[in-house]
Amino acid sequence: MFPIKDKLILTPTVTKISVLAPNITRHAKAGQFVMLRVEPEGERIPMTIADIDKQAGTVSIIFQVVGASTHRLNQLDTGDHVLDFVGPLGKPTAIEGLSKVAVIGGGVGCAIAYPTAKALYAQGTQVDAFIGFRNKELVILEDAFRQFSHHLTVMTDDGSYGDKGFVTDALGKALEAGKTYDEVFAIGPLPMMKAVSLLTKPYGIKTTVSMNPIMVDGTGMCGGCRVTVDGKMKFACVDGPDFDGHAIDFDEAIRRNHMYASFEQKQYQKACRLKEDKDA
Ligand code: FES
Repeated sequence: MFPIKDKLILTPTVTKISVLAPNITRHAKAGQFVMLRVEPEGERIPMTIADIDKQAGTVSIIFQVVGASTHRLNQLDTGDHVLDFVGPLGKPTAIEGLSKVAVIGGGVGCAIAYPTAKALYAQGTQVDAFIGFRNKELVILEDAFRQFSHHLTVMTDDGSYGDKGFVTDALGKALEAGKTYDEVFAIGPLPMMKAVSLLTKPYGIKTTVSMNPIMVDGTGMCGGCRVTVDGKMKFACVDGPDFDGHAIDFDEAIRRNHMYASFEQKQYQKACRLKEDKDA
């Protein structure tokens, strides 16, 4: 059992929890993830590590309530426990030797982009961060990105905060104006990562995206997390989650994601109905 040491509501649908797991903090690096389970009959949920505190021995994850499992996780509070908390899993993000990068975060994907920006900044890389949200109410981690980047651009789709438009608008402007980067890291919804990869391709800028497909075992055994990269099948849990954005078959990943999202939505509605019946 792993105790929750802290819980923070970031937006009405996004929560941060810090879990005591000192064994994981000793080895975890940016880009890696954990698999957690809330209760014995619950499914395993993959969560990218958003932050670690080695001194306190805590691992922070940030999640959006999108389905039955995250709904259940969100019901837990400080002092409660998660049943399983296994990691670190996956390959760390490769950041060595980079002088100048752009880190792009979209929505709750900023929770994954943030540790990458922080690790790059800590090693002395020049970091331009671009973070985007649908509106002002959904903005997360702005201060954290401000602390660990040399230049931060905040975008909202409706212009209610920062600049109006998408992160690709801001990145496109920067590239048109002659900005150059050794590498671009894009983390967020699949259409956003696809758009960033299409944007950087003509400039020949290496672009790394973080894939977050359905995962079951997290060890390369079930095949649930398969993605196609350069025409070859890869497993996000052991070969990723980072992949070359110019080689990923995004259309296939988006199709698979839609299938899973509609199943999750039904499970979530079922869980909410059960709760209402119980509360009545
Ligand atoms: Fe089963 Fe990756 S989660 S192969």
